[in-house]
Amino acid sequence: MDRIAVLDFGGQYAHLIANRIRRLGVYSDIFDGEVAAEKLREYKGIILSGGPQSVHAEDSLKCDASVFELGIPVLGLCYGHQLIGQILGGHVEPGRVREYGKAVVNISQNGLKEGVLAGLSVEEKVWMSHFDQVTAAPNGFEIVASTSDCPIAGMQNLEKKVFGIQFHPEVTHTPNGMKVLDNFVSITGAEREWSLEKFIENEIDAITKKVGDKKVFMMVSGGVDSTVAFTLLEKALGNERVYGLFVDTGFLRKEERSQVAGIFRDLGASNVRIEDASLEFFDALKEVYDPEKKRQIIGAKFLEVQRRVFAEMGLVGDEWILGQGTIYPDTIETGGTKHADKIKTHHNRVPEIQKMIEEGRIIEPIAQLYKDEVREVGLKLGLPGEMVWRHPFPGPGLAVRCLCNEFDIFGDTTRLSEFETKVKDAVVDFTPVVLPIKSVGVQGDVRSYKNPILLSGETSDFEKLSLASTLITNTFPQINRALYLLSPEKIESIKLEKRYLTPDRILVLQNADKVVMDFIKEKAIDRAIWQFPTVLVPLEINEKEGETIVLRPVESEEAMTANFYKMNFAILRDLVARLTALDGISAVMYDITNKPPATIEWE
Ligand code: XMP
Repeated sequence: MDRIAVLDFGGQYAHLIANRIRRLGVYSDIFDGEVAAEKLREYKGIILSGGPQSVHAEDSLKCDASVFELGIPVLGLCYGHQLIGQILGGHVEPGRVREYGKAVVNISQNGLKEGVLAGLSVEEKVWMSHFDQVTAAPNGFEIVASTSDCPIAGMQNLEKKVFGIQFHPEVTHTPNGMKVLDNFVSITGAEREWSLEKFIENEIDAITKKVGDKKVFMMVSGGVDSTVAFTLLEKALGNERVYGLFVDTGFLRKEERSQVAGIFRDLGASNVRIEDASLEFFDALKEVYDPEKKRQIIGAKFLEVQRRVFAEMGLVGDEWILGQGTIYPDTIETGGTKHADKIKTHHNRVPEIQKMIEEGRIIEPIAQLYKDEVREVGLKLGLPGEMVWRHPFPGPGLAVRCLCNEFDIFGDTTRLSEFETKVKDAVVDFTPVVLPIKSVGVQGDVRSYKNPILLSGETSDFEKLSLASTLITNTFPQINRALYLLSPEKIESIKLEKRYLTPDRILVLQNADKVVMDFIKEKAIDRAIWQFPTVLVPLEINEKEGETIVLRPVESEEAMTANFYKMNFAILRDLVARLTALDGISAVMYDITNKPPATIEWE
């Protein structure tokens, strides 16, 4: 099958580019930007991605110059365009202004006729994000596009089939971007042979061959990746030879265990074992409040349960192969840090499993796919839409959405502290209170653990709240998260009580989470929201008995960055009413922070 390589220079866009190329029918692989040209010989085309650095920085990533001597068409985007400029003997200089956002490019007559910009209009809307720019094209290149601030926004060498463009065709903000990539695919001459139907057919064949007459065992979570991988295995091998284990840690969503059991029952999977280990987990977490400790204990306990079941099932024998729901971005080491699968990584790497990996007894049926492709494969395999469109859910589950605390604190909040007065001067329309708890954030690529700030004051305008939140976290580095008070209207007192992970608190959280999940389905906003943590925080407000619920809906693509979701206030009021009607809820707040500076989860 013909393939196109995407060289990753650290932009968030490399995965987006590969994903788009696949949608155009050609399988695409990501490589580290500095990969040796030798490894790319078999590829039909090479795309150099964008990246955050300046090509002039001492430690900046450079592609192997021999990439241009392979005789394979090359397309450079943004940083990739500048690399072409620099490596092939042109000039790259800092621009006069930082161009960021929408721009209009003018395309030359030659550009419109032939090359990656062929068939576009003289003026095209595009998305730009750069400071440096190519100021002299290398020999043999003609300039085919420009903007008012960037005279060389596009250049090409038709003879060598090397193309550079300063804008980003891979993002939806460039309306005709797909046409640019489509042109490049045509120029490479790659056969458009990649389709998910074909993938399913080939993968079933590959599974049958690899597994032979053995049996497969897989940990299942009820999430989309493991369910789709499991279904593919079943399709290939039949349900007699595919076994699954689902562990109930006690930190699942309400009714999740029976739902997951139902999913597998409907699939006809007769060998999925459901292990209720919740009591063991609660026991191990007694009197633990520190988030990192919680994770460690949960991870270790998970392994213990898994080991026990392994031993009981005699899984160490030679007749077993282990299935895993690893997806493509998890197999790539470049492209940023992702701790999303910490727990999964742990329980995929216990000594028993490590040994199986070394012996080649691991099978990962969806390791080539992106999330959107996994979903489509799920639908094609007949999984229900509701399952396929589930929001991601963290391995430690509600345990990281239920904050704990080891002290009792009581505070009268009717007077602002010195710090709060400073914040108040910056966001005049709202009254700030620093909350006596901490949550995790990510600021400048490092983890932070700091106090959130709560804003109260009448408004129905999330844009205004968003500005206030950004202003606060930018001005006061001691704050990594901002909230808006939905109920009650005003804060008079805050009581923080000693609280740990207990079944009664998890029940309060499960009930609130269920109200939220049902609500977003009812209002048909569950797809627009990428993930919606509901968080239980041990704060009693204005002496109303119970704890605080924080709503944390976000929009995101792959969780590396996220924006808080701005819910329509009219329907939000309805949600708040439903939540305050529950037992054990003292207040409701809305998380108005993007990622960065706050993470999606609170812990
Ligand atoms: P953060 O909170 O870092 O989360 O913005 C990014 C994504 O990762 C998920 N997440 C986890 N998933 N085990 C998991 O399996 C974990 O420990 C974990 N922590 C965060 C989170 O839900 C979000 O989708």
